[in-house]
Amino acid sequence: MKWAIIIQIQKQVAQLLDLSEMEVAETVSFYTYFPRQGVGKYQIQVCTNVSCMLSGAEQLLQYLEEKLKIKVGETTPDSIFTLSAVECLGSCGTAPVMQINQTYYENLTKAKVDQIIEELRKGKEL
Ligand code: FES
Repeated sequence: MKWAIIIQIQKQVAQLLDLSEMEVAETVSFYTYFPRQGVGKYQIQVCTNVSCMLSGAEQLLQYLEEKLKIKVGETTPDSIFTLSAVECLGSCGTAPVMQINQTYYENLTKAKVDQIIEELRKGKEL
């Protein structure tokens, strides 16, 4: 999405909700579910906060980078996957965790990641 369009939308939201433009901009920049650039069909968000980090999230994130051939913050050339590292997803007891669009995947392993990515590539709907 073009930056000027984002700014214009934020201004309109601020007017509509009687907020300052700064309040809207702060909110949009804080939450990962308000992407400020184009994302793929599946937005993969890997939690890298403490519980997940201690359960191997960094290794899973690196594994996903290698598997998808993209870095964190990037989208695959076919626009299917966007990879992000995010703060706590609120499911610390089932770490490591990732969220793809609105679906949570918990107690992740490399084998589970392989299965999930394969199913999504085959067109599984979330
Ligand atoms: S630390 Fe990962 S879900 Fe809370």
